[in-house]
Amino acid sequence: MNLPKIASISKKIVVALLGLFLVLFVGVHLGINLCLLRDDGGTWYRAASNFMGTNYVVKVFEVVLFATIIVHILLTIALQIQNLKARPQRYHRPQKTKTSFGSKYAIWTGILLLCLLMMHFCHFYFVKTGWVEGKYMISIEKILHEYDRIEMGLMEADEEADFRLFFNCFANKRDDMTKNITSDGNWIANLTANDIEPIEEYLPYFKPDFYNVAKDIFRVPIYAILYIIMFFVVGFHIVHGIPSAFQTLGLNHNKYNAVIQWLAWIYAVIIVVGFSSIPIYFLFF
Ligand code: HEM
Repeated sequence: MNLPKIASISKKIVVALLGLFLVLFVGVHLGINLCLLRDDGGTWYRAASNFMGTNYVVKVFEVVLFATIIVHILLTIALQIQNLKARPQRYHRPQKTKTSFGSKYAIWTGILLLCLLMMHFCHFYFVKTGWVEGKYMISIEKILHEYDRIEMGLMEADEEADFRLFFNCFANKRDDMTKNITSDGNWIANLTANDIEPIEEYLPYFKPDFYNVAKDIFRVPIYAILYIIMFFVVGFHIVHGIPSAFQTLGLNHNKYNAVIQWLAWIYAVIIVVGFSSIPIYFLFF
């Protein structure tokens, strides 16, 4: 039994399965982000991101997603090192192999994607964790609901004291903030870190306003361009990744290979065009 070979094949299978999971995530992520294009001042997008930010199933999914990204990257690096070790001497003359352009460059596009993904996290995800500043919003319904709980004597003394402190700070700033009530009347939005300071220690009452975060970022041409590059890299990775994952999982067949390749291309074009339309929309409209 050739153990290293088996280990390498199982690594490849895990990389393929995790890769397909990431490919599906990108499709769902696109569906949600396309709400940004609705001419409704962000109502749908806020509803979708509020759901994604509060739903417990989504929170578990987020942990799985990050674990998937990390394991996918680590295993890809391990396979790459293994391949290099198995071929210690570099060929003097370029060899004509059947390796496609995609698989040759998958590791490099993967690294580039990782860098662009870090930029993406700095712009969006880290606003949620509080590591970088962004735009914030607060639910009017939530404030009224908490107030009702006090009126009905349903709040613990500590919690009530905290809420009253929050509410007093909030009330002082209310006149500035109410200018930013969203068209659906559900949120006070587009608040900067400056607006919510010193209330920010009650951060649970505030949420990231990803609609305005996206608007601010995509209106900066260099970011719009970097994001469009990122979407092309994702597309390139998909065109290579889907057929390669099918091959690793033994789901390829001479009869269907062309179909798989076509489907990968169609999916990649939807991803690239769909995502790119978002920065282009904010940049020009
Ligand atoms: C117009 C393009 C995009 C926008 C506006 C956007 C927006 C966002 C936002 C708002 C979040 C934070 C969501 C939350 O945690 O509640 C997020 C997270 C994330 N995005 Fe994007 N994204 C875009 C494109 C992409 C692409 C192309 C990828 C794939 C490479 C991607 C991968 C991720 C990942 C892995 C996370 C962290 C997991 C999560 O929170 O769901 N994003 N994105």
